[in-house]
Amino acid sequence: ALVSMRQLLDHAAENSYGLPAFNVNNLEQMRAIMEAADQVNAPVIVQASAGARKYAGAPFLRHLILAAIEEFPHIPVVMHQDHGTSPAVCQRSIQLGFSSVMMDGSLGEDGKTPTSYEYNVDVTRRVVEMAHACGVSVEGEIGCLGNLETGLAGEEDGIGAEGVLDHSQLLTSVDEAVSFVKDTDVDALAIAIGTSHGAYKFSRKPDGDVLRIDRIKEIHERLPNTHLVMHGSSSVPQEWLQIINQYGGEIGETYGVPVEEIVEGIKNGVRKVNIDTDLRLASTGAIRRYLAENPSEFDPRKYFKASVDAMKQIVIDRYLAFGCEGQA
Ligand code: G3H
Ligand code: 13P
Ligand code: NA
Ligand code: ZN
Repeated sequence: ALVSMRQLLDHAAENSYGLPAFNVNNLEQMRAIMEAADQVNAPVIVQASAGARKYAGAPFLRHLILAAIEEFPHIPVVMHQDHGTSPAVCQRSIQLGFSSVMMDGSLGEDGKTPTSYEYNVDVTRRVVEMAHACGVSVEGEIGCLGNLETGLAGEEDGIGAEGVLDHSQLLTSVDEAVSFVKDTDVDALAIAIGTSHGAYKFSRKPDGDVLRIDRIKEIHERLPNTHLVMHGSSSVPQEWLQIINQYGGEIGETYGVPVEEIVEGIKNGVRKVNIDTDLRLASTGAIRRYLAENPSEFDPRKYFKASVDAMKQIVIDRYLAFGCEGQA
């Protein structure tokens, strides 16, 4: 059944688990997520970015998600719009039937320029008024994602600040988070605590804390009824990087957020964990390997099946690690 984000995250908070939210662009990702959720009986959050809507077309994405709900009627599914850059974008998604939208007013309509607190409150509050009138949940964001040491947002295209940011932007302030929720009434709040989008999060193997768990804890204590969201939460599996490079790819040394640290975040109040890059890496690695090992094969279903299986295993692993098993 299609449910709102609020319903799922309230359940996650009551039962002390966290939900991965996976980005979807195509049938293979959608199948991998639903088959994994079905196998471990977990609820589903799938999210569509602006890039996904451009690639697949909003109606195709919408019907992919509706098809998933039809095929797996016993699994609750949130259809979420990721990183909306304006109230107009969110309004279109609400009209299309999304059950949750993100208004990311921490960046301007270009998805790159950091904005003022007042701008962020203004656009987010407008979306909350519109969405709540339709039973749709809203995620807002305060702070700018980026590596706390280098100040870099991490991704070249898509959503992310350009240039180098300072600490006051990279680490969400507790007081600002509290007043932002009071001023906007968002259901969920994305915070900046050391993660960044894309595959290039950390250039050295994390040998300690990469997340500011202390900050998550402080914000959660002051905002116990607001569900905290962590973007940029891919773990960048080293085994998939190795497979990609072994079969002709060229991806340099890079590291993501260790799963154990995400689990620590969940223990301290994180309820939604955004993951896109990990499924991209698994999919690409599986397809490269399949084609290299089966050079005369040309039926796309064969290598797409390899990609579905690889993504499905990552989804299962995250569901188990985050405590989602049996929660559907
Ligand atoms: O927020 C970033 C997500 O990974 C979506 O990326 O805009 O390339 O679809 P995308
Ligand atoms: P990753 O690039 O770490 O997978 O993050 C995805 C994300 O935050 C989507 O909004
Ligand atoms: Na931001
Ligand atoms: Zn994001």
